[in-house]
Order: sequence, then C-alpha cells, then structure tokens
Amino acid sequence: MPETPAYPVGLRLAGRRVVLAGGGTVAQRRLPALLAAGADVTLIAPEVTPSVEAMAEAGEITWERRTYRDGDLAAAWYALAATDEPAVNAAIAAEAETRRIWCVRTDEADEGSAWTPATGRTEGVTVAVLTSGAPGVPEGAAGRDPRRAAAVRDAIVAGLSDGTLVARRNRPRAPGVALVGGGPGDPDLITVRGRRLLAEADVVVADRLGPRDLLDELPPHVEVIDAAKIPYGRAMAQEAINAALVAHAKEGKAVVRLKGGDPFVFGRGMEEAEQLAAEGIEVTVVPGISSSISVPGAVGIPVTHRGVAHEFTVVSGHVAPEDPRSLVDWPALARLRGTLVLLMAVENLGAIAAALRAHGRPDDTPVAMIQEGTMATERRVDATLATAADRAAAEGVRPPAVVVIGEVVGVGPYAPGAPAASRDSGTRR
Ligand SMILES: C[S@@+](CC[C@H](N)C(=O)[O-])C[C@H]1O[C@@H](n2cnc3c(N)ncnc32)[C@H](O)[C@@H]1O
Repeated sequence: MPETPAYPVGLRLAGRRVVLAGGGTVAQRRLPALLAAGADVTLIAPEVTPSVEAMAEAGEITWERRTYRDGDLAAAWYALAATDEPAVNAAIAAEAETRRIWCVRTDEADEGSAWTPATGRTEGVTVAVLTSGAPGVPEGAAGRDPRRAAAVRDAIVAGLSDGTLVARRNRPRAPGVALVGGGPGDPDLITVRGRRLLAEADVVVADRLGPRDLLDELPPHVEVIDAAKIPYGRAMAQEAINAALVAHAKEGKAVVRLKGGDPFVFGRGMEEAEQLAAEGIEVTVVPGISSSISVPGAVGIPVTHRGVAHEFTVVSGHVAPEDPRSLVDWPALARLRGTLVLLMAVENLGAIAAALRAHGRPDDTPVAMIQEGTMATERRVDATLATAADRAAAEGVRPPAVVVIGEVVGVGPYAPGAPAASRDSGTRR
C-alpha cells in the first residue's frame, strides 16, 4: 500500500505560539520561514548555533536555555521536534498528540503528525511541495522523497523567478513601466527580477547594449522597439523613447525599458523615470549589473584589491577634458591613487591619458581596455597610460569598451605576464 498523501494547508502563524525544541542546524534552517510567517517562536534547547543565538539576542525568538519538559507545548499551535535525541523528539510528538497540536519530527518524519514541505517564495507566490508514494508503486519504492520535493520546488521557483515558467497575474495591474538594468551583455547576467518582468512584458523598448539575446526568446506577440534605431539626434531620440514608453503604458500594456548595465549609471534612467512620473505612470526600477564593475571582473580585474586600491572612480569619457562642457575634474582624478574606470572613453582616450599624465599620474600606470565584455566577442588589450591611445588605435579597439586605469590591472593570475592560469568568468563564448 502506498502511504496516504498529506493534506496540504497553509498555516497562518502570525502572533501564534510555536514551540521549537532543538537549537542545531535543523532548527536554524526552519526558523527563518517561521519568523517570516510572524510566528511567536519559543525555542527550547540547552545549546544553540551562533546564528540561532543571534536571533535570540535580537529578540526575534524566545530562547529557553534548557532541555524539553512535558508541558512545554501548552498553548502552542504548532510544534517542531528537532533535538538530536530521538527519545526527546518522541516525547514531544507524544505530548503534541495528546494536546492535538500538529507536530513535525525532523528525525523520523513518519512519526510526526505533520510534514514540512519544501518551500520557496518568489514575488508573492509561495511554493510548497510534498511527495508521497504514487498509486500502483510498491511500498518503499517511492515514498516521501524530500530531495525530489526540493528539486521540484527549485524548478518551479526558478522558472517563476526568471520567467521561463510563465504564469501571468490575473489581477489587472496599474499601467506602468519597468526600467530594467540588463547587465553588461551576457544574458545570464540580468537579475532574476529583470528576466521575469521581461517574460511578462507586452512591449520591450531595448537599447543597443545589454542582453540582446534575450529578445529572441520573447514570444511573437511581444512588441520589441529597438531604441537604437529610433532616428533623429541624441536628444530627439530620447524624446521619442520617452514618448513611446508613455504611449504604451497609457494603453495599459506591461512595458519594459531594457537598458544596458544599470539604468542609473550613465543610462539616462532618471530622465525616463521623471518623464513617466510627470505623466502619472508608475515606474519600477530594477537595478542591473553595471559594466563598470562587471566587465573588468569578467576578465579578472578587481576594481579594488587589498593593499593596492582603496577606491575606484567611474567616469564618463564622452566629453574630452578640454571641452568646456566637461563636468569632470581631471586634475583631481590624476592625483588619486586608486582605480579609474572609464566608460564611453574610446574616442577621447588620447586626450584623457594626456590630461592624467600632465597632472601627475605616472606614465607606466597599467591600463586595460575591454571591448564587448562578457559577450562572445569579448577582448582585452593591455597598455600603459603612455601607450594606451596608440595601442587602442593599433588594435582597433571600438566601443563598447571599458578602460581600467590603475595598479589593479596588474594583480592576480590573469594579469599580463602572470604565470599562465586558466580563467572561467562564465563569459559566454
Ligand atoms: C551609455 S553607457 C551605459 C552604461 C550602463 N548603464 C552600465 O551601467 O554599464 C555605455 C558604455 O558602457 C560601457 N559598456 C557597456 N556594456 C559594455 C560591455 N559589455 N563591454 C564593454 N563596455 C561596456 C561602454 O563604455 C559603453 O560605451
């Protein structure tokens, strides 16, 4: 006979007394979900792990520093027997049975009156999975299988989180636009929230940079507007992008503005947010992994390194140092000892390097130029501050590229001249 399946139920534990006996790693794993449910947890154990102790010190739980005694379950709604003494767990389960309190035994699950499902949460959905023997399967061949339950839970949560399992909301949503940072280009480097919103979108307005491969995965009904192809000059193009966002949002569509890197790092994200807010449209900002940190990291350059650089400064190089429109204090930057990360600097690299050298940054400061970082075409060209512009021209370095200036370029096993080492940054090839 296959075992009887459990009856699934969601316990609303807010403000209700829950007794947890045991203070080891099992208790530690169960506590966050109990606390998230608002349970009034009394933990009974002579000793606890440091994490559990910290929860007690923070007042999140009441810790009674002793072993379990008969009567401890008085007034409890729910009990967990998680000590490492089977006889104690059995006594707790027996008291729970007498008091008609549901009780989980973590050592011998079948001896308790309740089972803990494998649970996960994503964006308002709680997934709880229990397994039990299937009809027709001989006893013992496929009974409760917590690992399978966890695997099913993981698959559902991951699918819902990243949008590969599409379960659209039925409640009407307020018209809105999500400004989603797509990361530097590798589609794996978008956040799970960004990916889910993309999967739920009706309209996607996409930049030239960012995870463009993800656009191929969108279903045919999704309208993709290529912001890079919007005509007119730069300012007009931005106006046209804003107008498209406003128009589609006002039609009640789920609109995603997919941007490269992080929306607020040289991304004009706030201009778009301001425009939408002025039109009364709700804006959700989803931060992204900025190329300023991730592209150096992908080729093995840390923007900080203990004993080498205690600061890094991210600068736009789209305006040359001598240009009156420049807002950058290049002489001050030249005096800094830390790492300089330049974006949009390929065209003005000669003038920028000259300004930094003129104001005191040494000629032999290492420089790395990383083009199309994290993408299949990624490449790195190394130089010094004195040679960077010539090297960039000779090697045909083109945008998009991140330029890293500073001693961090020379640290670690992936630096030029370091003993050969294999590197796997996860970059798609
Ligand atoms: C308009 S800025 C946008 C930056 C973006 N918001 C971010 O946080 O990464 C564009 C510049 O970012 C840099 N960039 C973005 N993605 C890159 C990549 N995959 N490889 C190299 N540089 C990149 C280049 O300097 C490019 O010219």
